[in-house]
Amino acid sequence: MIVTPTGQACGASVTGVDLTQPLDPHSVDNIRKAWLRHHVLVFPDQPMSDDDLERFTLYFGPFGEDPFIAPIRGREHIIAVKREADETCPLFAEAWHSDWSFQENPPAGTCLFGITMPPTGGNTLFANQHRALEEMPAPLRSQLEGKMAIHSAKVAYAPEGIHGDADQAGGRSMDIRPSREADASQLHPIIRAHPETGRPAIFSTVGYIAGIDGMTNEDGRALLSELYLWQTRPEFQYRHVWQPNMLVMWDNRSVLHMATGGYEGHERLLHRTTIGAGKSAFGQ
Ligand code: SIN
Repeated sequence: MIVTPTGQACGASVTGVDLTQPLDPHSVDNIRKAWLRHHVLVFPDQPMSDDDLERFTLYFGPFGEDPFIAPIRGREHIIAVKREADETCPLFAEAWHSDWSFQENPPAGTCLFGITMPPTGGNTLFANQHRALEEMPAPLRSQLEGKMAIHSAKVAYAPEGIHGDADQAGGRSMDIRPSREADASQLHPIIRAHPETGRPAIFSTVGYIAGIDGMTNEDGRALLSELYLWQTRPEFQYRHVWQPNMLVMWDNRSVLHMATGGYEGHERLLHRTTIGAGKSAFGQ
């Protein structure tokens, strides 16, 4: 297995492994180590089936729970991230986030497999939240230390939210299911140690963070805006350019990510699984 860092703020490409076949524990262990080190792993030229994608996901944890998006037909744990060539509604996930950070036990990671990729555009951006924390100016860090963020899916998935009833009526091809369940909230530390490596990172960002516990709305939002501007700076980013048959797995505990556009008139289709926070079949 050859792991080649991207040379950007995070990410590495992995070759010399065949993900269409079951992996031995040694290979899984090497992939996990590379994942924890580089936070985003890119596996090019892997013509994986949905079975392969599910098997790969389960090497790294149980399936996570995917709320608000219906799975594809015949699969409980795969969702389609898709956009038709003539679709005009706003892009899905075109905002920095850590997947499902509003859950009580947010997922460890996400696997995204490129099926139909546009000839240009449709890149995915990642932002390394260890580096963003390590290089953060001390006055900003001291305001965030010990603070708990109030996470919620309301802005995105409540019936009046960005992906709410009006969005569904606008002809979106993704099967998004807005719900009042999005109103729930959950507290998580803004700065927290990575559960596996212990390395501190900033966890999540505005969008899924509605405020800061113990602060007024106004003060909380002002601090979150300052944090957002810092944690998404270009020097912490990796820009991922897709090809068909490419698998990308990322660590939601270490990075933020967001979709980008620039492929009007072209279809884009990826299959996505979520790696839950619990232990994998390998006990890690
Ligand atoms: C996602 O956030 O899962 C989608 C990313 C993308 O479409 O590039």
